Amino acid sequence: MLKTINNLLGDNKKRLYMPIFLTVIDAIGSMALYFILYLTVIDLLNKSLTENKIIVYTCICAASVIYRIIVYRKGYLLCFTKGFDVAHDVRVNIGEHICNLSLGYFNQNSMGYLMNTLTNDVGNFEGIITHALPFCIKALTSCALIIIGTFFINWKLALTQFFVIILSFPVLHWGNKLIKKYGSEKRNLSSRVVSVVMEYLNGFKVFKSHNMTDTHFDRLLNTLEDTRKLSIKTEYKMAVPNCTYSIIVSFLTPLVLLLGSYMLSGHKFTSDSFTAFMIMSLALSAILVSFEHYYIMLNDLKLAANNLEKAFSIKPLPYSDEDFKLSSYDIKFNNVNFSYETGKQVLYDINFCSESGSVTALIGPSGAGKSTIANLIARFWDSTSGEIFIGGRDIKELNPDRLLHYISEVFQENILLNDTILNNIKIGRPEASYDEIVEASKAAHCHEFIEKLTEGYNTVVSEGGKSLSGGERQRIAIARAILKNAPILLLDESTASLDPDNESKINHALDQLMREKTVFVIAHRLNTISHADQIILLNNGKIEEIGSHDNLMQQKGHYFRMVKEQEAARKWNIKGESKNE
Ligand SMILES: Nc1ncnc2c1ncn2[C@@H]1O[C@H](COP(=O)(O)OP(=O)(O)OP(=O)(O)O)[C@@H](O)[C@H]1O
Ligand SMILES: [Mg+2]
Repeated sequence: MLKTINNLLGDNKKRLYMPIFLTVIDAIGSMALYFILYLTVIDLLNKSLTENKIIVYTCICAASVIYRIIVYRKGYLLCFTKGFDVAHDVRVNIGEHICNLSLGYFNQNSMGYLMNTLTNDVGNFEGIITHALPFCIKALTSCALIIIGTFFINWKLALTQFFVIILSFPVLHWGNKLIKKYGSEKRNLSSRVVSVVMEYLNGFKVFKSHNMTDTHFDRLLNTLEDTRKLSIKTEYKMAVPNCTYSIIVSFLTPLVLLLGSYMLSGHKFTSDSFTAFMIMSLALSAILVSFEHYYIMLNDLKLAANNLEKAFSIKPLPYSDEDFKLSSYDIKFNNVNFSYETGKQVLYDINFCSESGSVTALIGPSGAGKSTIANLIARFWDSTSGEIFIGGRDIKELNPDRLLHYISEVFQENILLNDTILNNIKIGRPEASYDEIVEASKAAHCHEFIEKLTEGYNTVVSEGGKSLSGGERQRIAIARAILKNAPILLLDESTASLDPDNESKINHALDQLMREKTVFVIAHRLNTISHADQIILLNNGKIEEIGSHDNLMQQKGHYFRMVKEQEAARKWNIKGESKNE
């Protein structure tokens, strides 16, 4: 455990040296009070407690209290401030680390697990470093001092006492194993609770429209019920080792009393020493009983540290060139195979080349792998085998963050942040001026509707951009991409049908955006891509047809049939509309 915590803290552990040192000094100071207590009891027994002695003892006690207040306060504050600083750094590091991971990581880990790592694990780590660690160190120092002291008084009795303490270790270990078992079960369950709550909140509209709010609320209730049952079960299971431990350490005082009295009667022990021993033994027993509480917290620290270490051990996508420069933007796929999950291949032997400044359209049925190709170009994932070259460079060599400077994406689902429209567009290029943002918005045909909003560009959009229509969200995403002006553009057309007005606005916006760029457009409406330089028809993860519109039409294959079907559907729509009129 210490190694894990050591790894997590790194150089930051030096910040904890001073508060730990002050905690140890405080523990030593607390021994003075026991010593005065001992002297007072001896004097009382010997009837030698004079007024002068009382004054001296009181002064020593007062001095000890003042000394401890100073040391304790300083140590306590330092433990908190340094502990919070250290935990803050762990929190920032884990956040940065997770930001650098590939999307594959988010795929494998449910949102609940991630939320737990970022909130509960870091929170536990922080809480224990600031609260439990100082008390544990103090308890251990006090125990060590008392045990050493008792060895000086009577080594035989001290050895017996020590033996009883050793006896409690396996019980602690037993409790430790149970905490490990039930702690990780509890954690998995709490990840599930977070996932279910998030699913419930995000899907509320869908559940409501299908009258499924009750069914899904039941799912949430069941998970909460499981959590309640597991918490009770854990407490039941933990009660056995906890009680056994408490009984063993509480047994310390009667044992010392019994053996000490026996030694006293055999004149192997003076009454002074016996009294001193008893006082120390009482103090030791009290500390050991309270130690159990902190020991459980230390185990929680271990669990949190292990989870955090596990998250840190996941490596971001590797690269060898940090600061590369691309001079051309042609894109080449060379025998690319890909699966999101092992055993479920999504792309098979993909080969094509898109010239710099050309437009490539990706078409095909739903689930064919079109968005996946766009994901691979942006290096959100790495291909399972084969190579992808951009400007002649294998993208596996390139720093993924820097690569994204060369790429703009407009996704199928455009999520907006709960921020002003201005800041949402500014994400494209954070240093852009207000005028540049307005210019991009005009090009993306969204300036008009933004101006009509109550606070214009300073209107705050709701989380995910739900306060705007799908078409408005898409045009804001296009404005972002226009502002970024990256040489490669990945355009995943929304599958949602748009009204003719919105469609023509978006098409105008896209024309602006696509100028002089290497463009990949994932199109669902074939009439928008007939002038693309290259059309790739994907089916079940394989390239079925590839070529220009004219080539593919001449082949009279799948593409030809799709175009004819869409034309027929359009004619049918027009006829239907004219009949209605
Ligand atoms: N994040 C993911 N994790 C696991 N499998 C995924 C993931 N994303 C997509 N898939 C699977 O990969 C396959 C290809 O998906 P992809 O999104 O590329 O299809 P698409 O051609 O873009 O479909 P659509 O036209 O509906 O957008 C599908 O079978 C899908 O279920
Ligand atoms: Mg898609």
